[in-house]
Amino acid sequence: MSKVRRIGVLTGGGDAPGLNAVIRAAVKACENRGIECLGIPDSFDGLLEVDRPYPLTRKDVVGILRMGGTILGTINRGNPFAEPVQTSDGEKDYGDRCLEIFERVGLDALIAIGGDGTLTLSQKFYQLGMPIVGVPKTIDNDIVGTVNTFGFDTAVAFACDAIDRLHTTAAAHRRIMVVEVMGRNAGWIALHAGMAGGADIILIPEIPFDPERVAEAVRRRDAFGAKFTIVVVAEGARPLGGAQSIAIAAHGQYVERLGGIGHKVAIALEELTGKEARTAVLGHLQRGGSPTAYDRVLATRFGERAVELVVRGQFGKMVASHPPDIVPVSLSEAVGKQKTIPLGHDLIHTARSIGVIFGDAGES
Ligand code: F6P
Repeated sequence: MSKVRRIGVLTGGGDAPGLNAVIRAAVKACENRGIECLGIPDSFDGLLEVDRPYPLTRKDVVGILRMGGTILGTINRGNPFAEPVQTSDGEKDYGDRCLEIFERVGLDALIAIGGDGTLTLSQKFYQLGMPIVGVPKTIDNDIVGTVNTFGFDTAVAFACDAIDRLHTTAAAHRRIMVVEVMGRNAGWIALHAGMAGGADIILIPEIPFDPERVAEAVRRRDAFGAKFTIVVVAEGARPLGGAQSIAIAAHGQYVERLGGIGHKVAIALEELTGKEARTAVLGHLQRGGSPTAYDRVLATRFGERAVELVVRGQFGKMVASHPPDIVPVSLSEAVGKQKTIPLGHDLIHTARSIGVIFGDAGES
């Protein structure tokens, strides 16, 4: 194995609290091994021009451990391989150009921090011959091969705080309060934040819900004297026999985005119960702000271990959390899938056992 002298680091896809902690750990682990670290701005697009990668030193990462976002910038633009790109050297194939710049700036390896989209691109570049190591990231906690991802704990803590605040206003007005959280096809945030915040009803993409059963749960609460109800709904949840709720078409072209299910649930519950309902959509607030202590530690471990995998020549892998260890997992095993909540998950069992309603058939 030849000596590693220079590593590039990039962040791709939607941001998550802890990205900067990964970058900081990678830079420090590199410096301690005499390896030069280059920041690649704006995901793989930072490899389209030779003057874009820039040196990242210990000085550049001072104070970023606690910062949300990413100092490298990030973009999320689907499949960049689909069309040729315009560069200062004319029109080029995306993959060829990135590999060319990778060589020209003298990189020995790349660390790509991102979600399924970025890890899928990483796997593709690995197959094209780029020595690459992935670091999984998403607040949704839906990446296969790792028990958890940094950003998830922060998002859950934020959502829990929001639910706590909404509890008091819901109780004061004797209302139904619906809280919409992120989670496209996986309801991890809704389940954890709902449990932590003491939600009465949790609606997740994995369990299509019957609005009448949800309304019945509200009526039962009223009957025993609790005049308010907290409903947590994942953005990707859908009614039985219905579709996911699509919010906007934008970007100058037709783009489908999830959203709006919180309002739909609130309207349905007002109609079915005759009670007042309000909706709070937490949206991108869940992705902002300072990472929790847990996420800072997980992100730091991921960043350091990614450098170690590079030094050991373990390419085509991503670092993964298998508590208490951080282990390498093949990118090919992780990408193109989603880690949804198994219906027999122990937390769902606990939730049902204490009377939390998911709104599915058979639930009394
Ligand atoms: O990071 C995943 C996620 O938070 C999803 O839950 C959400 O649908 C999506 O990102 C929104 O991302 P953006 O608005 O950046 O496209």
